[in-house]
Amino acid sequence: MRLNLVTLLASLAPLAAASPLGSLGLASWDVEGFAKDNPIGPTKGGKGGATVTVTTPAEFSAAVKGDEPKVVLVKGELNFPARPKIGSNKSVIGVGNTARITGKGLDVFNVTNVIIRNLKISYIVDNDCITIRNSTRVWVDHNEFTSDITQGPDAFDGQVDIIRGSDYITVSWNYFHDHWKSSLVGNDPSFRDIDFGHLHITYHHNFWKNMGTRGPAGRFGHQHVYNNLYVDFHYQAIHSRSDNQVLVEGNVFRGDTREALSTYGLVIPDDSPNTCTCGDEELDGYANLGARNDWGPAGVNITQVGNFKKAPYKFKLTPLLLVEPVVRLGAGVGKI
Ligand SMILES: *[C@@H]1O[C@H](CO)[C@@H](O)[C@H](O)[C@H]1NC(C)=O
Ligand SMILES: *[C@@H]1O[C@H](CO)[C@@H](O)[C@H](O)[C@H]1NC(C)=O
Ligand SMILES: *[C@@H]1O[C@H](CO)[C@@H](O)[C@H](O)[C@H]1NC(C)=O
Ligand SMILES: *[C@@H]1O[C@H](CO)[C@@H](O)[C@H](O)[C@H]1NC(C)=O
Repeated sequence: MRLNLVTLLASLAPLAAASPLGSLGLASWDVEGFAKDNPIGPTKGGKGGATVTVTTPAEFSAAVKGDEPKVVLVKGELNFPARPKIGSNKSVIGVGNTARITGKGLDVFNVTNVIIRNLKISYIVDNDCITIRNSTRVWVDHNEFTSDITQGPDAFDGQVDIIRGSDYITVSWNYFHDHWKSSLVGNDPSFRDIDFGHLHITYHHNFWKNMGTRGPAGRFGHQHVYNNLYVDFHYQAIHSRSDNQVLVEGNVFRGDTREALSTYGLVIPDDSPNTCTCGDEELDGYANLGARNDWGPAGVNITQVGNFKKAPYKFKLTPLLLVEPVVRLGAGVGKI
């Protein structure tokens, strides 16, 4: 049965772009989770606004400024000399499968209602690929993030870091690979007053491959982590600390993955040797398990179970046996 389904899905691969897996009813292709269902309204980005196509960093930075709704199409490779700041009510969407961001990454600061899709963001220097700070309603979907894991944990920073009271965010169908630190939620244990009660984030159908840590690592918030595929997530995938809560369901872990999930407040030595003292330095987090996960050979260390037992919205859960082929087919650029 399993082989037949996998073979069937593989035979559909060429159709993935034209005929989204969503239409097969196996997963949602549209925004789903906290970026859709939240108290302030669904994330629509620049819907209804003008569409502009940009091909240079200067054009990009000008186009994403301000609150006016706009759809910004990105064509080709843009090598940023400085980090552009994306304004409210924007959709930033790569054209085809060659839209690329290098040099400096993107800032989403003090804004609301932003969509970032179909961009390859790689080898970003001195900072994160995307930093979402004090912002609400952001959908990061169908992008690819990569650099080089061989240079150790501190050579590059995060891929999608979400900080300072940000809220109602969905991170879906991204291909994160060959990079150490993926997604940090809440960047300092001393920011309890800013972060606690915020940081509601949905991670679904992402493909993490050959990674180090933070898939994601959360403090003070709530993250719903479902139907993601982890292959060779070497040190620690999901980490919940400082009273953070995760709801973890329907995920698949493969290959060399030491720890799939931990709520122990130890920031492991492999996480960030340049800043952590690497003792049991924070309060533990909480983990709640929903639909069954396939942990593979990876370890699980749940020190506290919390009360985030059910997502406060409807969502489409892919059956566990199909998670690996569906995510492999659907994640990354060139699929939307
Ligand atoms: C754009 O975003 C701002 C928040 O910065 C919001 O107040 C405003 O209503 C939005 N404009 C439109 C037309 O959606
Ligand atoms: C965000 O808001 C803070 C506090 O008001 C301010 O210091 C900072 O400059 C703002 N950043 C941007 C990009 O608007
Ligand atoms: C957060 O963003 C809002 C604008 O949306 C701004 O008024 C506020 O000062 C910012 N706060 C911080 C701590 O940056
Ligand atoms: C699991 O957490 C406990 C704390 O409750 C800790 O003593 C133990 O070392 C942890 N195990 C691993 C493998 O980290």
